[in-house]
Amino acid sequence: MAAISSSPASAFCGLPPRRSVAGGFCRASIKSPANSLQLPSRLGPLFWPWEKVKIGGFSVSPMGFGTWAWGNQLLWGYQEEMDASLQETFNLAVRNGITLFDTADSYGTGRFNGRSEMLLGKFIREYKGTYKVRENIVVATKFAAYPWRFTSGQFLKACKSSLSRLQLERIGIGQLHWSTANYAPLQELALWDGLVAMYEKGLVRAVGVSNYGPRQLLKIHDYLKSRGVPLCSAQVQFSLLSMGDDQIELKAVCDSLGIQLISYSPLGLGMLTGKYLPSKLPDGPRSILFRQILPGLGPLLGALRAIAERREKTMSQVAINWCICKGTIPIPGVKSVRQAEENLGSLGWRLGSDEISVLESAAKECPRKMIQNIFQTR
Ligand SMILES: NC(=O)c1ccc[n+]([C@@H]2O[C@H](COP(=O)([O-])OP(=O)(O)OC[C@H]3O[C@@H](n4cnc5c(N)ncnc54)[C@H](OP(=O)(O)O)[C@@H]3O)[C@@H](O)[C@H]2O)c1
Repeated sequence: MAAISSSPASAFCGLPPRRSVAGGFCRASIKSPANSLQLPSRLGPLFWPWEKVKIGGFSVSPMGFGTWAWGNQLLWGYQEEMDASLQETFNLAVRNGITLFDTADSYGTGRFNGRSEMLLGKFIREYKGTYKVRENIVVATKFAAYPWRFTSGQFLKACKSSLSRLQLERIGIGQLHWSTANYAPLQELALWDGLVAMYEKGLVRAVGVSNYGPRQLLKIHDYLKSRGVPLCSAQVQFSLLSMGDDQIELKAVCDSLGIQLISYSPLGLGMLTGKYLPSKLPDGPRSILFRQILPGLGPLLGALRAIAERREKTMSQVAINWCICKGTIPIPGVKSVRQAEENLGSLGWRLGSDEISVLESAAKECPRKMIQNIFQTR
């Protein structure tokens, strides 16, 4: 328990961002946003141009940001008063080269239904940068496989509704949020045909899936190929708390098919940041999950902390960097400028293979891992 009880505040020493020169290219090494009075608007180039990742026809930043929390009161404690700060969060990300933003048509609870897409669209429109910078932003949204969406036409309609919330002419990557293969296999073809229809109509520039396991991924890939539609991405829960055989197999299938794996919940919903303890749980439903998992995370959080201290990084930065080192694009969720600034510090450096082994051995020791999405297929 001692390993997880020391305060993460020790990782923030109030120093200004350190800079290092790598091959004449100045990279920011961001460590200590917590006590910054004045947040820098630009932290210095955080990755080399050739470190961008190919995904469909796009070339995106090696890390994206997730927006599930934007509009979600129930799980993430969203309040409308957060919008101005979320806009700043978005601005900081874009100014520092982040080009991939993940959202979904189901994000936003109660009266905030659809809020994440609305906010993202608004932030893009109001971003005070060049047209080219705005054009380079890739919005990846997800379409929920609601039971009433049982024809391809209904998915086409869902796509048009997302475009209207985002106020965009085209979506970057249109993704199926989950497969219905486990519980309504007959609906699955409507999902696939829905993707084909939105791609053929030019409403999405590329298509992807989420929560598809390796077998189901192969099936949809072959189907889409037969319809002349390339599948560019597969999004799955992937982190030091979610790195079982299924994730490894999925990554191998993705590599063999030229599909980019996007890691969602790379911080284990916040557990890998080190800021939560069994005695200090988040508000809301996350606490139920955290109460079960956190007590067993001592070795893993200890390994994260040791590497973070040695490298003058934070635990979140190390956890996100691990996802990048595994050849995936992590999309950590961000709720504040401070979190975005810290997570940007995951870029511009790489864990060594020895550090990766230490982290993975410690992760294997954890008695309980993250629960998998109920819709995740094999
Ligand atoms: N396809 C799917 O089914 C699916 C499922 C889940 C997520 N996703 C996508 O993946 C994205 C990321 O996953 P996630 O949001 O579930 O989990 P995550 O990225 O593992 O954790 C994000 C949460 O951790 C905390 N956090 C983030 N950075 C931090 C930092 N530097 N220091 C301290 N705390 C920090 C914040 O919450 P607190 O401050 O409240 O702790 C934040 O909301 C989502 O936004 C969404 O776009 C997709």
